[in-house]
Amino acid sequence: MNKGIAIYPGSFDPTTNGHLDLIERGAKIFEELVVAILRNSEKSPMFSVAERLEMLRTLTAHLENVRIDTFDGLMVEYAKSMDAICILRGIRAISDYEYELQMALMNRKLEPTLETVFMMPADKYSYVSSRLVREVAQAGGPVRGLVPEVVEQKLREKLDPAYKFHEEMRDVPLVVAGGKEKKRKKRA
Ligand code: PNS
Repeated sequence: MNKGIAIYPGSFDPTTNGHLDLIERGAKIFEELVVAILRNSEKSPMFSVAERLEMLRTLTAHLENVRIDTFDGLMVEYAKSMDAICILRGIRAISDYEYELQMALMNRKLEPTLETVFMMPADKYSYVSSRLVREVAQAGGPVRGLVPEVVEQKLREKLDPAYKFHEEMRDVPLVVAGGKEKKRKKRA
């Protein structure tokens, strides 16, 4: 185990199984892992910071050396204030690399003593992102297996009207032509 604190920063809007996979891997190699949610994101988030904090705390309750926190402003400043030795980030595919490289080098420019460590989540999560999860859920699609159950439930609560609409649409005839009704296919 690596001595010292590592920071795993991100938006976590919402936490996916890929994030959780990375947290579990990070917890094995760092003495302490602080999962840090960015507070001042410009994007309009689906979940409030308080909701994301609560979900992450629930999801990591079994990991003794994992702490959940929030931060504002420059990540390297926050990392320094926590006496962290490195930043943990996940890389799923080559498409992540360019953005992550830019960010790691900018962070190094801002704080040369802080290293960025990249880890890969399990390959079964290589296509899973918070953005796509939000998109699928907003359209009433299934997100089981992509996010933890707690998150799936929260998405359901938040997007209830979308889910209700799509549930109802299953029973609505698709085409009524020449008096013949064609039922929509049931989703699995
Ligand atoms: O999950 P995300 O949205 O990819 O996480 C991006 C995050 C939060 C790690 C990044 O935007 C960040 O660190 N923001 C804080 C502001 C900052 O330090 N910017 C300079 C980074 S190069």
